Parts: sequence; C-alpha cells; structure tokens
Amino acid sequence: MARAYGFVDYGGPETQRLLETAVPAPGPGQLLVAVQAAGVNPADWKVRSGARRNSVTVHFPAVLGREVAGVVESLGSGADDDFAVGDAVFGATAEGFGGYAEYTLVDARAAAHKPETVSFEVAATLPVAAGTAFDIVEHLEIVDADTVLVLGAGGGVGSAVTQLAHAAGAAVLGVASAGKRHLVESTGGLWIEAGAGFENRVAALAERCGPVTAVVDLVGGDVLDRAVTVARAPERVVSVADPVRAQALGGSGVTRRRTREVFRQVAALVERGVLTPRVERTFPLSDAGRALELVESGHAGGKVVVTVP
Ligand SMILES: NC(=O)c1ccc[n+]([C@@H]2O[C@H](COP(=O)([O-])OP(=O)(O)OC[C@H]3O[C@@H](n4cnc5c(N)ncnc54)[C@H](OP(=O)(O)O)[C@@H]3O)[C@@H](O)[C@H]2O)c1
Repeated sequence: MARAYGFVDYGGPETQRLLETAVPAPGPGQLLVAVQAAGVNPADWKVRSGARRNSVTVHFPAVLGREVAGVVESLGSGADDDFAVGDAVFGATAEGFGGYAEYTLVDARAAAHKPETVSFEVAATLPVAAGTAFDIVEHLEIVDADTVLVLGAGGGVGSAVTQLAHAAGAAVLGVASAGKRHLVESTGGLWIEAGAGFENRVAALAERCGPVTAVVDLVGGDVLDRAVTVARAPERVVSVADPVRAQALGGSGVTRRRTREVFRQVAALVERGVLTPRVERTFPLSDAGRALELVESGHAGGKVVVTVP
C-alpha cells in the first residue's frame, strides 16, 4: 500500500483525506512513477468540487493532482522504447490517477526525461503551468513587436507567460495585486495594480509601450471583459480561465497539447535559463490540504508544490 491525498466525494475541502491506496500496475504505454514532487493547480480543486464532472471521470476515493516529477519504478509494455527503470521523469498523470501520491501512473507519451540541472520540485510544475504558458505563447505567435497584457501575471501560468513573452522580445504588462509587484517585475513584466480601474492604468502605460496587441487572461469574469476594452483586436484575446467568455468577446481558448515533445521543449527552456518556474511554497504530502487551500484561495504567488515523502 502507498500513501496519497485525495477526496472521497464531490464538494469542498471537507471531502479531502489522506488515503491508503494500492500501488497501481502500469498498463501498455504507461510508467509507474515513484513521485518526488507534484504540482498543485486550480484544476485540482475544480475537479474535487464537481465542476468538471462532465469532462473528468472520477472514481471515489480519488487522488488529487495532475502533474508529477519522480523516478520510473516499472514500465508497461511498449513504454520501454524511451524510458528505463530508474529514469528521472516528469509528466501529466494518466486518466484516473492523481499526483499527490507516493506512486502514480503517467502515460509515456505525456512524459519526458527530467534534465539533471532541473530539480524535481521545478520539473513537477512543467506539465500544467509552464506547459500552458508555452501553448499560449505559441498560439498567439508572440513576437518582439507585441505588447502583451497578462491578467493574473503573478500566478503559476502568469509568471511563466510573462517570462516567455518577455524572452520573445515583447513588452509585457502584468496585472497583479501589490503583493506580487516584485514577482511580476522579476519575470520581465511592467507591473499594473489589479483592481478597480486597472484598464485605465493599462491604457496609460500603453501610451508609452504601444497599443495592447495580445491579451492573456488567467482570471476571467469582469476582469476579462474590462481588458478587452483596451485590446487592439479581440482575435488575439485568449483565456484559459474563462474560454467561453473569451469566445463570446471575439477571442478564444487555447488548445493544450501535453505531449512529450512540448514537455521536452519546455524543459530545454528551463535548462537554458529562459524560463525559471517560481516555486514559492512547498508542502509535504501529509500537509497537501494546506497546499491546495493556498491555491484555492485564488491568490497564490508563483507555483505551489507538494513534496514526497
Ligand atoms: N485549460 C488549461 O489547461 C489550464 C491550465 C492551467 C490553468 N488554467 C486556468 O487558468 C487560471 C490561472 O491558473 P494559475 O495556475 O495561474 O492560477 P494561480 O497560480 O492560482 O494564479 C491565479 C492568479 O490570479 C490572480 N488574480 C486573482 N484575481 C485577480 C484579479 N481580479 N486581477 C488580477 N489578478 C487576479 C492571483 O493573484 P493576486 O493575489 O494578485 O490576485 C493569482 O496570482 C485558472 O482558472 C486555471 O484553472 C487552465
């Protein structure tokens, strides 16, 4: 048996528990991974709440988390072409398996080798937050002539988007609360205080940087509505927080790829120092509830990671 942290029913944090689970056997094309670290994401509590019940299949008790880094313990048939027992890897967990656990399954096609210079804690944040940021920047085809407005620039995805857009040579206007000013500036963004009237502050700054040519929304709702008023063209407004609303406003969501090739490219950017995921807090598996509570507050800075053991 192995330790894990999950939930026993749809609902709030009261449904969360430390669990004893059987160590799963890898199926064809899968890796059994001894988890060293697991990324914590808003999707985790959204799945627990039941909000994703139409798109994510859950069998109770369910283990939380969608992304891990760890060491390959055993392999299913066909997975040994690219991986071997003892390899340090990171990736997205297989359907029906969670990351806040001593052991989990990862589909080999959604896994990549962890570079030696990248820690397990950092590697565990690459599939979701950094991978999403990578997909966003490629989708928007950001170039040095762009002025990119990032809503939620101090969060997990926002801090990665800011770095990647800045590395592409674009000017980045990062909307975040005052407590995240330093984080936004240290990732290459020009900080704009969140809250009432932020769009006027964006418009004033755009006088100097040039008009906003792309918007990356990581907040949604009214914040997204107001941001569109300062965008030059709605076609380059994307949201992963509220894609339906973005579409209604003339923008779009972003297709997530979650492939080994994308994960390799993201890891290479980390190795080269182009992208430095900001792991701001780590919690042991026994305290995973506090990690998720921080992310569920909606105001975490950078990335939150659960470490195992
Ligand atoms: N579709 C996908 O594949 C996918 C993947 C990753 C994420 N997402 C979604 O994208 C969103 C962001 O994810 P994340 O991992 O970056 O979350 P996160 O780390 O929790 O960051 C969210 C950020 O939003 C900021 N924020 C909250 N209210 C704000 C406001 N009114 N104005 C400006 N900033 C505000 C928070 O900072 P402050 O303290 O500054 O408010 C926080 O830093 C979530 O909705 C998540 O579910 C989707």
